[in-house]
Amino acid sequence: MENSQKKDQLTYYDNQVADYEKENGLLKRGLTRAYERKAKIILKELADVQPKRILEIGAGSGLMTYFFSTLYKEEFVALDLSKEMLELAKSRITNPKFSFVVGDGTKPDFADGSFDAVIGVDIIHHLDDPRAAMAEWKRLVRPGGKMVFLETNVYNPIILRNIGIEHEVRAFLNTDKNLTLWPTDAGWETVKVSPAPSYTPAGPKFMVPLFHLVDIISPKIPVWKRMAALWLVSAQKK
Ligand SMILES: C[S@@+](CC[C@H](N)C(=O)[O-])C[C@H]1O[C@@H](n2cnc3c(N)ncnc32)[C@H](O)[C@@H]1O
Repeated sequence: MENSQKKDQLTYYDNQVADYEKENGLLKRGLTRAYERKAKIILKELADVQPKRILEIGAGSGLMTYFFSTLYKEEFVALDLSKEMLELAKSRITNPKFSFVVGDGTKPDFADGSFDAVIGVDIIHHLDDPRAAMAEWKRLVRPGGKMVFLETNVYNPIILRNIGIEHEVRAFLNTDKNLTLWPTDAGWETVKVSPAPSYTPAGPKFMVPLFHLVDIISPKIPVWKRMAALWLVSAQKK
């Protein structure tokens, strides 16, 4: 990653911690459905790999990491560029198999083949050169290992809220075509990009069964499914 881009990300996220704390407040109040669902989707996609060591890129304040720590019992490394964000993540996770590393996810300082999987949520669009990062992630996983990411879908109208936000601008590149092309160019195989649940608000409580139904049905409806909130990006190293 270019130094200037890295500095921009750091300046932004180091100063975001207070806002993220508000979101963490949501977690404390039990409004957890979206994050828990995302964690389950990623872990389900990894089931065939039976991972014993996972690296999460861009763990941030740990909104996702918290749920990984309740659902996954093996070794897990959460990495983020921002020390401030990661401190927040650390403060809420008690699973002793989870560790935290401040570092650049585009050049992770780990040995070749030292992970079974590299995962993340809403991180690819923060990287200048996703292909180069994905090539690094491929270096980090063992043969048969996977990368699994959930990323904002450019075809979902919610993306319009990102207009004019500089550090979110690359989210407009998140077509299924690009998200297939980048891992393929980086040397990954069995690249799959599929729509993930489209609507996951946590309340009001009496509406949740309806939201759940919408989540299950919409990724199956032609055309509509292309507007799902997230793409699930999965690839394997042969
Ligand atoms: C939108 S937040 C996502 C956080 C978390 N995955 C979640 O879903 O709550 C993006 C995170 O990526 C981190 N980030 C941006 N560029 C990075 C890089 N090159 N390496 C590691 N982390 C990075 C930021 O510091 C920030 O915490």
